[in-house]
Amino acid sequence: MIVAIDGPAGAGKSSVARALADELGFAFLDTGAMYRCVTLACLRSGVALDDPEKSLSVANTCHIELGVDSVKLNGEDVSQVIRQPEVSQSIKPIAAHPGIRALMVERQRRICAQGDYVTEGRDQGTVAFPMAECKIFLTASPGERARRRVEQLIRGGVQADYQTILAQQNERDANDSNRTIGPLRAAADAIFVSTDGMSEQQVLEQLLSIVQSKRGMR
Ligand code: DC
Repeated sequence: MIVAIDGPAGAGKSSVARALADELGFAFLDTGAMYRCVTLACLRSGVALDDPEKSLSVANTCHIELGVDSVKLNGEDVSQVIRQPEVSQSIKPIAAHPGIRALMVERQRRICAQGDYVTEGRDQGTVAFPMAECKIFLTASPGERARRRVEQLIRGGVQADYQTILAQQNERDANDSNRTIGPLRAAADAIFVSTDGMSEQQVLEQLLSIVQSKRGMR
């Protein structure tokens, strides 16, 4: 079974999708990590991110391994490096590249053909797995997402200003929603879950009950 979870940055998808996979005994696929790895590989090899041929060739040759607790790029653990602001801020042309998206979607399908998966991203229910039995669109209001991000940064000892975070988040939302290929969009048959005012445990319980009801329909 494939559980496809899509939604904007900061809706709490990653942690809840991981917890959901654990509860269900499914594997977890973080598709954002794949775009982050390709971006990092381009940055490291000095390839201009907006050079379509060279960036595609980097994507074609880079070896990405998504483990339970680690992300490896050509054998090196890059789990931390791919989350750095330099990568997040450079990702737009990579995520908008039709050839790179096609390659990533093909890899996602190959991985998920191996068993039961919770997969998370922006285009999982629409493009990668349109036949998924369970599709969830996880969202939260922009204010709530930005407030959570500020709290998370401050907890990690990083100074953060709400207005700056909100502006960066609005820009990422626009980039994700406006690209032609694989934009952030809910599938017509996705179930919307708004996480405003909910704890992570409450979200997890709601997702579990959605998956269980879909399983019951099989
Ligand atoms: O989920 P994330 O923040 O790690 O995603 C990183 C970037 O990759 C983000 O800019 C959106 C993009 N992305 C995408 O275009 N398609 C996906 N399936 C997953 C992520």
